[in-house]
Amino acid sequence: MEGGMTASTNVLCERRDRIALVTFNRPEKLNALDGATRRRFLEVMDELRGDSTIRVVVVTGAGPKAFVAGADIGEFEGRTPIDQFRAMKAPTIFECIDAFPKPVIAMLNGFALGGGCELALACDIRIASDRARLGQPEINLGIIPGGGGTQRLPRLVGYGTAAKLLFSGEIIGAEEALRIGLVDEVVPGDGLEERVMALAGAIAEKSPVTLQLMKEALRASVRTSLDDGLRQETTLFGMAFSSEDKVEGVAAFLGKRKPDFKGR
Ligand code: COA
Repeated sequence: MEGGMTASTNVLCERRDRIALVTFNRPEKLNALDGATRRRFLEVMDELRGDSTIRVVVVTGAGPKAFVAGADIGEFEGRTPIDQFRAMKAPTIFECIDAFPKPVIAMLNGFALGGGCELALACDIRIASDRARLGQPEINLGIIPGGGGTQRLPRLVGYGTAAKLLFSGEIIGAEEALRIGLVDEVVPGDGLEERVMALAGAIAEKSPVTLQLMKEALRASVRTSLDDGLRQETTLFGMAFSSEDKVEGVAAFLGKRKPDFKGR
């Protein structure tokens, strides 16, 4: 293992060259998100945000069964509305991923339910094992999704398909998730990690400054009107044009060599 592991019981962070592999690690609870896990995840992402050696983050779950099986339902019992309001007003893991200045890939190795599905929705790309199962079963608990599920899901799969999943709480397999656009690729058998790392590695070779501008522009596509989004794209394009990496990229193409992007 290159780069070493930042030890913590509930969230692991392994650096592999320019890629950080962040693993939710409570397999005995199917990696359900309790308060300590959320806090630790935010700390890990804070470290990675400022680490210029890391260009892509991959998020996954420990164990053979689950990516993340949702919020820790055990914490719901006895919690007052004010406690819950405060918990949800605090910086969230979903917004952290959404606003993260580097690409974040969800490596869906098993159940991605409730908050786990919402976590995947906040990522830029979702790659699933053929054993993954996804859904928003909050309806069965008498609650609605609180991590962006009612907003990001319809933007990704369309209103009717989102309503079907949210109202029914139905849990779907990876192939169905691919068909509706909830995941972007399904990997058969045991090839998930290899495929995700290959994709992350290819992205990690690009200019990190361009990736950041690109993500900013892409995020505008689901946040604003077409007119505003196009205006933002023009501004971000202008910024990309002023980067040293643009000079390097163009020079490398013309010189018939591989570019060496520095992130400036
Ligand atoms: N919160 C807290 N604990 C959870 C959990 C969650 N979201 N999801 C699973 N667990 C725990 C189970 O309680 C069980 O713990 P135990 O061994 O101490 O009893 C352990 O993880 C293993 O889960 P289990 O239910 O035995 O596995 P299964 O294969 O029979 O079922 C699921 C898997 C995912 C279908 C089932 O665990 C489930 O429905 N989980 C809740 C999903 C959910 O509603 N998420 C949205 C929350 S808002």
